[in-house]
Amino acid sequence: MSTHNVWTHKGTFLLAAVGSAVGLGNLWRFPYLTGENGGGAFILVYALTIFAVGIPILIAETMLGRASRRSPIMGMRFLARTHKTSRAWESIGWLGGASAFLILSFYSVIAGWAIHYTWQMFTGSLVGADAQTVSDGFDALLASPALLTLYHTLFIIASGLIVGLGIHKGIESSLRILMPALFLILLGVLAYGFVNGDFAAAASFLFTFNLAELSLEGWLQAMGQSFFTLSLGMGAIMAYGAYMSDQASLTRTAFAVAFVDTAVAMVAGLAIFSLVFGAGLDAGSGPGLMFISLPLAFAEMPFGALIGGVFFILVLGAAISSSISLIEPVAAFLVERFDLTRPQAVFGMVLASWALGLLTVSSFNIWAETGLFHDLFGRSAFDFIELLTNIFMPLGGMLIALFAGWALTHSEVMKEMRTSETWFQVWRFLVRFVAPAAVAFVFLRTLPQVHG
Ligand code: PFF
Ligand code: NA
Repeated sequence: MSTHNVWTHKGTFLLAAVGSAVGLGNLWRFPYLTGENGGGAFILVYALTIFAVGIPILIAETMLGRASRRSPIMGMRFLARTHKTSRAWESIGWLGGASAFLILSFYSVIAGWAIHYTWQMFTGSLVGADAQTVSDGFDALLASPALLTLYHTLFIIASGLIVGLGIHKGIESSLRILMPALFLILLGVLAYGFVNGDFAAAASFLFTFNLAELSLEGWLQAMGQSFFTLSLGMGAIMAYGAYMSDQASLTRTAFAVAFVDTAVAMVAGLAIFSLVFGAGLDAGSGPGLMFISLPLAFAEMPFGALIGGVFFILVLGAAISSSISLIEPVAAFLVERFDLTRPQAVFGMVLASWALGLLTVSSFNIWAETGLFHDLFGRSAFDFIELLTNIFMPLGGMLIALFAGWALTHSEVMKEMRTSETWFQVWRFLVRFVAPAAVAFVFLRTLPQVHG
């Protein structure tokens, strides 16, 4: 592969990986999963997986991308061939491609809700509204397939346009503006929550734990969330890693990505729960946490409409900097494998994922309680797709860890990592044994319980 397909700067991979990592997973999913699973105990499992499993796999996945300098599927084919191992490792790429489709399909629908709420906030429609009005408003949004499809379409088109413009003019330039703006807004919202909400209640909810409170499915969800939040195990990081400068440090970059992502999740959790508790609302309201409880909190607070609007812009920006990383691995594969132009490849990927997203749309209205997925799997298409990604991402991550840990030679790894022998040994022990065992443990413990 030619050398011009590299990020402009040594630090761009970090920017892009943080853009991918920080998203709906931090702002929407982490707070509501924590709320549903009783707070601190969930966070403990989540944090342990991030450090013992997430970071080593983040290093491994970036390494496979940079070592192959190809899209995930072609990259794994190339690495398997040069190591004279089984072509079955290519399944890492295919599994990743499948996850990317699945995730983008529902990610875009949820991000679409944020378009709706940005509008609602800035127009002041919810100012002074009571709990009933706000929750009826959310129900009405979900009940409308037309509205959900409209927002889903707008969001996915915007994401496709950025990736269609290429890794430099599209991805790099938009991230360079978006990411600093997002951090400023997040800090602003935290300060606002601190002043107007119940910060102490939020902190004690998030940071006191009793492991016994965590349900079995909570374990799977905490692990799934730790992969989801770092964008791991599905090729996004591998695809971005393929463009990473040879000069950048894998270890330092991986720690920085995990640190920023975790910090954003904690800050978002603190800000959101401060506001929600401050307004006397409940933590355990599920996916509606950000779209019912939070708007309600804003409705009652000084400058709530303005700050709320800015907050939902943050949600949208964080979502788009992640959705583009879901498109890139598949689009890059289509370009490499079938010689498509980038716009053609992006169009194909986005169209397929958009169509799949209609199933998620229908999960909130026409097929909310009935339909094929309920008959077959006892849950809605959206819940089923989410469950699949909770399985696929850890599985993909486990395979990545095994390949990097067992198939790559000492000198190859050292060429990428350029680190001390001690750290190399620690890392290799984690990817060879700890990460695969942790994933297997959670699967064995929870999968038998996961039926409709
Ligand atoms: N990490 C993103 C988030 O936390 O919102 C979600 C995500 C993006 C997952 C890209 C996977 C991925 F490849
Ligand atoms: Na994240």
